[in-house]
Amino acid sequence: MDEHRMNAPADSTLLICASPRARGTSMMLLRRVQAVTGGQIVFLYREKGTHALLERMARADTIVISGPCYINTYPAPVLALLEAAALQAPWAGQRLYGIINGGMPYLHTHRQGLESLQLFARACGLRWMGGFVLGGGAMLDGQPLEKHLSARRVVPAFAAFAGHIAAGRPAPDSLYKQAQRLPGGVMARVFSAFLNRMVDKGLRRHGHDPYGPLPYGHQ
Ligand SMILES: Cc1cc2nc3c(=O)[nH]c(=O)nc-3n(C[C@H](O)[C@H](O)[C@H](O)COP(=O)(O)O)c2cc1C
Repeated sequence: MDEHRMNAPADSTLLICASPRARGTSMMLLRRVQAVTGGQIVFLYREKGTHALLERMARADTIVISGPCYINTYPAPVLALLEAAALQAPWAGQRLYGIINGGMPYLHTHRQGLESLQLFARACGLRWMGGFVLGGGAMLDGQPLEKHLSARRVVPAFAAFAGHIAAGRPAPDSLYKQAQRLPGGVMARVFSAFLNRMVDKGLRRHGHDPYGPLPYGHQ
């Protein structure tokens, strides 16, 4: 890892943690990047307004956003940040990388977050440099990446991703895609049935009938 470390000035690499959880998986991943690239970590949820953060983004050469997948994309504050940043376009060619981790072991359902960053970068004059999608992030719950189910492949793949950031190179999708083995069709059905039962149980516990009529007149 050390061969990639850069002696960067304070604001040249800005690492934005886009999870409300300071000890969650997004933060764990961001710290691993920081160990390679240097730079400062800021918490999107603790920023008061976006103005100061936009100023820091404008001063940075490289911006890395690491956040959880909430309903198939980044949490709303990330999208609000991008909308505010879009008003300041054109940007000065800052390099933008994204990391998104979701509870599900799949990648395609989380990938949408990276697509948002890519669209934003293309439209607003930043350079989209690629991202890393991590499935099974909820099981980790902020524990070291070495505890991931696919640790043997994911750990070196993520190290390579951080190395690309440090070197200012684009990071190919193949890094995260080849590193994670996805559940096959049979496992996916068992898993879905299990999760559906959990959701049904939760609804019943709160006094709702999961198969009853929808509220507010919906069909
Ligand atoms: C409101 C909310 C929505 C979520 N939506 C999804 C989702 O659509 N897909 C998924 O795989 N995980 C989903 N999750 C699980 C988180 O992505 C997962 O727990 C993640 O590891 C949290 O990252 P963090 O520890 O960095 O906060 C959701 C969690 C919350 C709280």
